[in-house]
Amino acid sequence: MVLNDNRRIIAVADPVALAKAAAERLLARIANNSDRVAICLTGGSSPKQLYELLGHEPYRGQVPWDRVHWFIGDERFVPTTDSRNNMRMARQAFLSRCAPLVNIHPMATGAADPVEAAHRYEAELKSFYGADSLDPARPLFDAVLMGVGPDGHTASLFPGYPALAETERWVVGVPRAHVEPLVPRVTLTLPVLASCHEMLFEVGGADKRAILTRVLAGEDLPAGRAVSAGETTWLVDRAALPENYRGR
Ligand code: 6PG
Repeated sequence: MVLNDNRRIIAVADPVALAKAAAERLLARIANNSDRVAICLTGGSSPKQLYELLGHEPYRGQVPWDRVHWFIGDERFVPTTDSRNNMRMARQAFLSRCAPLVNIHPMATGAADPVEAAHRYEAELKSFYGADSLDPARPLFDAVLMGVGPDGHTASLFPGYPALAETERWVVGVPRAHVEPLVPRVTLTLPVLASCHEMLFEVGGADKRAILTRVLAGEDLPAGRAVSAGETTWLVDRAALPENYRGR
């Protein structure tokens, strides 16, 4: 189903189908690029199953690990040993076993504060990209994974926060989160997340249905503002699918 703003919604049966569909789309994006690939991962619980799939056959053998680079769209400002650290979760689920260390790009949560960590990550992204400004004809990422929180946040872009309006900085520090875990965050900004061939939201479970209904109804929420310069795909399982999208 294609919304009139070019976002596409793909409905699947359940969480297993959701993770499989996400893995297939990610692999297709990787296969489309015979050069160096950049994937921006996300945190939270939604992508965990996808990460585990990527680390196992038949998916693992289809990833050219040597030329795929893994970034993170937002991070909780906690040590890398803390179970709330997003990149730690991705490492445990698949990266540590599969990806060369030099291809894993975590945020520096050991920096003095989230602003310093944001500056460092911005410098790392610019150096990887090879330029200080984004060229719409040459997206930074092949794919950007996203989730949606109960308040409509995505990455660590919370409703009403100044980070949402940022157009210059690539990465910003967020002193206070709006939802659990209530720790400072570091997040990529909307224009940088948009610089991708495909933005892929994974939304599963009945708990997500209320917020997804609001986002798809066009309410001004961060997850609704997050749109790729390329394709934006919302992968949604049956339990999360809003009432008015059922049976379409
Ligand atoms: C984070 C995330 C965040 C997440 C949503 C959904 O660090 O918390 O990156 O944006 O994607 O909060 O989280 P769940 O998948 O846990 O519902």
